[in-house]
Amino acid sequence: MDDFRGAADLLRKSRHVVVLTGAGISVESGIPDFRSKDGLWSKFDPAEYATIQSFRANPAKIWRMLLEMDSLLAHAMPNAAHYTLAELERRGVVEEIVTQNIDSLHQKAGSRNVTEFHGHARTLRCDRCRLKYGRENVSLESIPPLCSCGNALRPEIVFFGEDIPADAYRRASMAAGKCDLLMIVGTSATVAPASYLPQLAKGSGAALLEINPAESELTYRMTDLYIAQPAGKALPALLDALDVVNH
Ligand code: APR
Repeated sequence: MDDFRGAADLLRKSRHVVVLTGAGISVESGIPDFRSKDGLWSKFDPAEYATIQSFRANPAKIWRMLLEMDSLLAHAMPNAAHYTLAELERRGVVEEIVTQNIDSLHQKAGSRNVTEFHGHARTLRCDRCRLKYGRENVSLESIPPLCSCGNALRPEIVFFGEDIPADAYRRASMAAGKCDLLMIVGTSATVAPASYLPQLAKGSGAALLEINPAESELTYRMTDLYIAQPAGKALPALLDALDVVNH
């Protein structure tokens, strides 16, 4: 039985709640995650399609994977999990979301304090002349899309082998170090350095509340309270439990 009352108590008595989200929170929005069965990496080997080296060597090939990602993102809408986190921010319960996702669904759901640890897909940039283009202004009729300088454009996402944007890294590390509750929603916690954030939070004395229908790297090593349910069901139930606790 998942302990929503215990989770609500944790939320109620915490002063600095930060949320770390991964691809799992967007699965109910129709965007497959990466490592579950039928995840994106079951179709595209990340070592071949998701490294900066592979992009530089053959941008047209990597854009075949990026095109599939782009079409998934184009029609995706936030689900109840995203909306619940936005409501918890509005109530002053959640201070900040650090997301590994590039789908902008937290912002679409109304969350305002969102740190995008792996970048986003709203703009494309040229790594030669640094020009940036809004995604809506770029045709993907032919791939790779080209900059006016002739170089292949790439989305502002972080490929394997690239650094996390410095500002995002700083903000996320500060949030993890300062929080007294880290909610971890929909991540396998297998990819560094994002996977260091729960360790940083735990080391600073925070409690870890995890929501994931499957166990992750954290569940039996570090998590204090584990809710084994999909986020789209668990987060609205947590909000209901919070309403009960607060009355
Ligand atoms: N609700 C909550 N969690 C879910 C749901 C759901 N409805 N569906 C799946 N999950 C869980 C899975 O059980 C899994 O533990 O989400 C997790 C997704 O894990 P990954 O596919 O590894 O995605 P993520 O952890 O976000 O990957 C981190 O790896 O490939 C890189 O850059 C990519 O940001 C990504 C990073």
